[in-house]
Amino acid sequence: MELTMKEKLLLEDQREHELVCVKKYTEYSKRADDPVLKNIFQDHASVEQEHYDTLTKILNGQVPPMAQGQEEDNKYQFKGINTTGTDNDKYLCENILVAEKYVSSNYDTAIFECRDHNIRQILNHIQKEEQEHGEHVYNYMQSRGMYSIQ
Ligand SMILES: [Fe+2]
Ligand SMILES: [Fe+2]
Repeated sequence: MELTMKEKLLLEDQREHELVCVKKYTEYSKRADDPVLKNIFQDHASVEQEHYDTLTKILNGQVPPMAQGQEEDNKYQFKGINTTGTDNDKYLCENILVAEKYVSSNYDTAIFECRDHNIRQILNHIQKEEQEHGEHVYNYMQSRGMYSIQ
C-alpha cells in the first residue's frame, strides 16, 4: 500500500506522538502516588506501544489487522468520590489529559487525509482508544475529587 507524501508525514508525526505517550505513561506510572493510578498508567503505556507498532506497520506499507474485537471498555469505572487524591497525582492526570486531547485531535486530521478505507478504520480504532484513555483518567480524577463537575 503506497502512501502519499501527506499521509506519510502525518503518520510519522503521529508515531512520534505515540512514542511520547509511551514514555510519559511509563514515567508517570513510576511517579504516581496511588497504586490504582499507577496501574492505569501502566495499562495505557502498553496500549500506546501497540499504537506505535501499528503506525510503524502502516508506514512500512502493511495494513495490519484490526485490533482485538469490541470488548466492553468499562475497566475503570469508579463509583462516587472514594478518597482524596494527592496534588502530585492531580498534576500527572492533568498533563496526560492535555497529551491525549492533542493526540486524539491529530488523528482526526490524519483520518481525513487517508486514501485507504482500511487504514481509516484502523486510525479510527486508535482514536477511540485515545478517547477511552481520556475517559479512564477523567473517571479516576472524579473518584478522587480532582475534577469538579460544574
Ligand atoms: Fe496512542
Ligand atoms: Fe492514549
